[in-house]
Amino acid sequence: MAAPRILLIIGGGIAAYKSIELVRLLRKAGYVVRCVITRAGEQFVTPLTLAALSENKVYTSLFDLKDEVEMGHIQLSREADLVVVAPATADLLAKMAGGQADDLATTLLLATDKPVLAAPAMNVRMWLHAATRRNVATLRGDGVTVMEPDEGEMACGEFGPGRLPEPQAIKDAIDSALAGAPAVVPLTGQPDFAPANHRPLFGRRILITAGPTHEPIDPVRYIANRSSGKQGFAIAAAAAEAGAEVLLVAGPVPLPTPPGVIRVDVETAREMAAEVEAGLPVDAAIMVAAVADWRAADTAPQKIKKDGSGQVPPLALAENPDILASLAKSAQRPPLLVGFAAETNDIIAHAEAKLARKGCDWIVANDVAADPMGGETNRVHIVSKDGVDSWDRLPKHAVARKLMEKIADELDALIPSRSD
Ligand code: C5P
Repeated sequence: MAAPRILLIIGGGIAAYKSIELVRLLRKAGYVVRCVITRAGEQFVTPLTLAALSENKVYTSLFDLKDEVEMGHIQLSREADLVVVAPATADLLAKMAGGQADDLATTLLLATDKPVLAAPAMNVRMWLHAATRRNVATLRGDGVTVMEPDEGEMACGEFGPGRLPEPQAIKDAIDSALAGAPAVVPLTGQPDFAPANHRPLFGRRILITAGPTHEPIDPVRYIANRSSGKQGFAIAAAAAEAGAEVLLVAGPVPLPTPPGVIRVDVETAREMAAEVEAGLPVDAAIMVAAVADWRAADTAPQKIKKDGSGQVPPLALAENPDILASLAKSAQRPPLLVGFAAETNDIIAHAEAKLARKGCDWIVANDVAADPMGGETNRVHIVSKDGVDSWDRLPKHAVARKLMEKIADELDALIPSRSD
C-alpha cells in the first residue's frame, strides 16, 4: 500500500516550531510529507529545516514559476490524501472560512478536493473572540475538522485555550482522519465518535446550564450540592458536535470545556440567572444545572467565628430565583424549553407535576436513588404533554447524543428555518 501523503501548511505563529516535531513524527510513521509555509510562518521556522526533515521540497510562493513548471498549485493541493494546517492561526482560519486565496497556502486550501484538518494556535482572547467562533463554526459546517486547541499558559503570558495541540495529538488526529474515521471531536473523556457530517443542529443556538451552584455563607463557606456537571457538559458537547452554537452557563465544576462550546462560569443561582438572560434569544434551552433552592439570606463579610459560648450562629435562608420557571414565563421564552428532574421516588409522577409547575416543554427525569449524582450512566424518562419516553440505561454522553437527535427533530418541526 502506498504511504499516505500529507500536505502540511504551516501558518505564522510562535507554535510553528512544533510543526518541526510533527514532520518528524509523520516521517517516522512512514508518511510522505510535503510542507507549505506561509510568509509569516517563515519568520518562525525555515524552509531549509522543513526540507531536511520532510526530505521533500518546501513550497512558499504562489508565484514561483519553477514550482509551477514542476508541479502546478492545483496538483499540489490534490495529490495529498489529507491537508493539515498546523498551526492554523486566527488569520488563516478567517481566510479559510471566507474563501480567500491571496497566497500559496490559502489558494491550496481553496483549491483542494481532499479532507482538511486544522490545528489552531493563537492567543486565548483571539480564540474566544466572536469572529473566530464564527469562523470555526463555519469551517466545521463546511466539513473541515478543526481540532480544539490545548488549554494552558501561552507564549504571551496569558492562560486559557489557544495553545497548539501537542504534535502527538495532531498525529493521532491525522491517523484517525486517514483511517476514514469521522471528525475527531471527542466528548469529555469518551472514546467514540459521531459522524463528521451529521450536523442536525447546524444553525441552531442552544443554551445549557450545568453543574451545581455555590451559595456563599461567608468568604470561606458555601451551600452546595453533589451535582458533578457531567451530564450537562456531555449535552453541551453533543450539541456542539451536532453543529449548534452552544452557550454553556456552568456552575463551579472542574470539567474541561467541550470542543466548540462557549462557556461562562458562574457561582451562584443569581449569577446563573443573569447569564442565562444575557444569553437569550436561543432556539432551545436545556436546564441541567442543579440550582440551589436556597441561599444564605445574608452573606457575612468576614469569616464567622466560634465565640466559645457553644451558641450556634443562626443561618437564615432566602429562596433563589427559579431560572427555568422564569424563563418559561419570559417574553424571550425559547421555542423549546427542557428541564431536568433528579428524583428518588415516584419519578414520573413528580416529573409530570414539575412539567406543569415550571411551564417547560419536556422534563428529563432520572432516578438519583439508582444513579447517584456524579456517576457515568443515566436512565432517563422524557416526560412531555405527549407522554413518557423511557430510555435504557446509557452512558451520559450517549444520553446526550440521543437527546440532541430528539431536540433536532423537535426544532425542525417547531422552526423549520434556521437562524444562520
Ligand atoms: O425544582 P427542581 O430543582 O427539582 O427543578 C429542576 C429543574 O429546574 C432543572 O431543570 C433545574 O435546572 C431547574 N431549576 C432552575 N432554577 C432553580 C431550580 C431549578 O432553573 N432555582
